[in-house]
Amino acid sequence: MADDRQLLTLAQQVRQRAHAPYSGFLVGAALVDDKGNIHVGCNVENAAYPEGSCAEPNAIGAMIASGGTRIVRILVVGGIGDLIACTPCGGCRQHISEFADDKTRIVSLDNDGELVEHTIEQLLPGSFSL
Ligand code: THU
Repeated sequence: MADDRQLLTLAQQVRQRAHAPYSGFLVGAALVDDKGNIHVGCNVENAAYPEGSCAEPNAIGAMIASGGTRIVRILVVGGIGDLIACTPCGGCRQHISEFADDKTRIVSLDNDGELVEHTIEQLLPGSFSL
């Protein structure tokens, strides 16, 4: 399975392709699915601002389209210039929650630039589900 260094490289690479002319905040996400396959996504903004999409659901969409069903690990990086500590936003936590369980690890950088991981329960306690 891909390790976090590989996921970090892929997330940084896809982040460079983000379309974020309005915020200038580029985000990249790389995930490993239940089949061991890797999927990436970046944020894609739109002139009609609410129509933009975040990196995480775009990576999840790629996973679903290729036949993956669950997120094993997802790593997210973001920033305007240099990377900053960037955990998934609230909406993205709900997107991740749909395909996560208590073993899923959500990895990001902390304020010291170190990789840190969380569970979905830590990031979205008491989440809504059907
Ligand atoms: N963004 C993401 O792609 N993922 C997050 O978890 C946080 C926010 C994007 C949305 C928007 O394009 C830009 O970052 C600034 O909010």
